[in-house]
Amino acid sequence: MLDTLAIPTQTTTASRLAELDTNNLEFGKHFSDHMFVVDYKNGEWQNPQILPYGDFTVSPANSALHYGQAIFEGLKAYKNEQGDITLFRPYDNIARMNASADRMCMPAVPEELFIQGLKQLVRLDAAWVPNAPNTSLYIRPFMFATDGMLGVRPSDTYRFAIITCPVGAFFGKPLRVRFEEKYVRSAEGGAGYAKNAGNYGAALYPTKLAQDAGYHQLLWTDASQHRFIEESGTMNVAFILDGKLVTPALSTSILDGITRRSVLQLARDWGMPVEERKVAAAEVLEALQNGTLAEAFGIGTAVTISPITVIGHQDQDYSLPELKPDSFAQRVLQALNDIRLGVAPDAHNWVVSV
Ligand code: COI
Repeated sequence: MLDTLAIPTQTTTASRLAELDTNNLEFGKHFSDHMFVVDYKNGEWQNPQILPYGDFTVSPANSALHYGQAIFEGLKAYKNEQGDITLFRPYDNIARMNASADRMCMPAVPEELFIQGLKQLVRLDAAWVPNAPNTSLYIRPFMFATDGMLGVRPSDTYRFAIITCPVGAFFGKPLRVRFEEKYVRSAEGGAGYAKNAGNYGAALYPTKLAQDAGYHQLLWTDASQHRFIEESGTMNVAFILDGKLVTPALSTSILDGITRRSVLQLARDWGMPVEERKVAAAEVLEALQNGTLAEAFGIGTAVTISPITVIGHQDQDYSLPELKPDSFAQRVLQALNDIRLGVAPDAHNWVVSV
C-alpha cells in the first residue's frame, strides 16, 4: 500500500531556505529544496523519487518540446498558526490532471502515487510553507513526454514531477481587463478545458498586446462569434449581476477551475442565486452602464479571488463600482482562507492534512 511506503528520498546538502525573503515572494520564482519525480516506461510508472530541486536533461528531439505533449496542475498548501499544513482539494487536482492526460494521449497518474508523492514532498519541505496572511506554498504537478523522436505520435515515455514554491499575492492589486474580440484562447472541441501547456503559450501574444495597452489581462470571448465571455486571462471569471453570482457555464473551451467550483458551492451554501450559463459581453457592458453590475472578479488557484475594477471594450474603459469591504469577492476569499486554515468548519471535506 503506497500510503505506508516511503518514497526513496535524497535530501539536499545545500538548503536554499535561508536565502528566501518571505516579504518578497514573487510568484513562481523561488523553488523549495526538493521535487518529486517519477518516470513512465514500458507501460508503467517507475522509480518514484524525491530529489533535490534541479535541472532535467532531455533529448533535443524531446517530443514535448516539439509537439507540446505537456500538462500541468496548480494547487496550494497552507500553514496555520499551530504549524499544521493542509492541502486544498488535491483529489480534484489529480482527477483533473488525468482528464487533461486523456485529452493529450498521455498516461494517467495513479491517485495514490500523486497523493503520496505530494504529501511526502510537502512534509519534507514543510519549512518552506509560509504562514503570513495571503501567502501559501504553490504546488505545480506536471507531466511531459520524454521520447526523443520527431514522429508526430504520442510519446511512449513520460516524466511526472511536482515542484513547489512559496508565494504571496499573485497580482496584489485590482485588475484592468479588456474584451478580446480578435484572438481566441480556445474553441469548442479544442483543448481549452485541459491544462495543457499550449493553451498558455498561445495566450501570451494577445495578452502582451493588452498589457502594452495598459491592461493586466483579457476577457476571452468565444471563438465562433466573440459574443460570449469565457475566461479572464489564466482565471475563470464571475460577476455579481442583479444580486446573483453569474459565471460562464463550463464547456470544452473553459477550464473547470477548482477554486471556481469552491466559490460556486459556498455561494449556494449561503443561499445566493447562482447562474452558470452563457454570459454575453453585451450583457455585462449594459449592466456596467445601467449600474446592475456590482462586482467582477477572476477566480483561480494562483490568483485566488482577484477583483476587476476596469473593463475595456473597443477603446472605451468602464469602471466598476468601488469594492466594499462586505463585497462577495471579499467574503468568499475570507471564507476560503478560514476553511483552509482550519478556522471555519470544512463542511465539504476539501482540506487534506499532510
Ligand atoms: C493556476 O491558478 O494554478 C494556474 O494555472 C494559473 C497559472 C498559469 C499561473
